[in-house]
Amino acid sequence: MSGKVPGHVAIDLAERDVAGKYHFLVSAIVPRPIAWVATRGRDGSTNLAPFSYFQGVCSDPPTLSVSIARTKRSGERKDTLRNIEETGEFVVHVIDESLLEPMVASAEELPAGASEIERLGLETVPGERVAAPVLVRAPLAFECRKTHQLSVGRCELVLGEILLVHAREGLLDARGNVDPERLRPLGRLGGRLFVPWTPGRTVEHPPRG
Ligand SMILES: Cc1cc2nc3c(=O)[nH]c(=O)nc-3n(C[C@H](O)[C@H](O)[C@H](O)COP(=O)(O)O)c2cc1C
Repeated sequence: MSGKVPGHVAIDLAERDVAGKYHFLVSAIVPRPIAWVATRGRDGSTNLAPFSYFQGVCSDPPTLSVSIARTKRSGERKDTLRNIEETGEFVVHVIDESLLEPMVASAEELPAGASEIERLGLETVPGERVAAPVLVRAPLAFECRKTHQLSVGRCELVLGEILLVHAREGLLDARGNVDPERLRPLGRLGGRLFVPWTPGRTVEHPPRG
């Protein structure tokens, strides 16, 4: 057996440098949801940054994950990670297309203590269960408490239990779940490409045992 998949090329990511691995993976694991993460440091300063290595992990207890890499230049902890490690708290926002530009702008690396929230003039209210701020413009916000943290190479995988959800009025369907047509979520492809909401297809699931 050659191990070759007909019509495919085999790619060994170990042969690529850090940037090469990164650019390949963010173009291949797509579309990704975007967590717009707000935190508050022990000194009271606020911080906001996007993370697309983001997923749901478990429904009970409701848990999500965000993977935060060391900074490219200095290898230091990003402000988001530092704040989460200091307080154990963070707020994850799900966004729609109207927030694309401020979300990308919030990825700028500002000096520690400088707030992307203030710089972008975004309105917030304090969380009800955590001290981190909640963005009023975001259609969905999850107040989270860190439950686990796992080091994976130069990344820290942070798991957080969702303590409280804030859903914009009119976002939910008759069953109390999020209506995608009303949310119109934004996804990330590789590089600078984002995917706006498009109508979905319905496929019947096989019967459950
Ligand atoms: C759409 C988008 C997705 C991103 N996803 C991640 C990610 O999953 N992990 C990560 O470490 N950085 C990611 N970044 C980069 C961080 O947002 C960036 O390093 C930011 O400056 C971190 O901010 P902080 O130091 O205030 O925490 C992403 C940037 C953008 C624009």
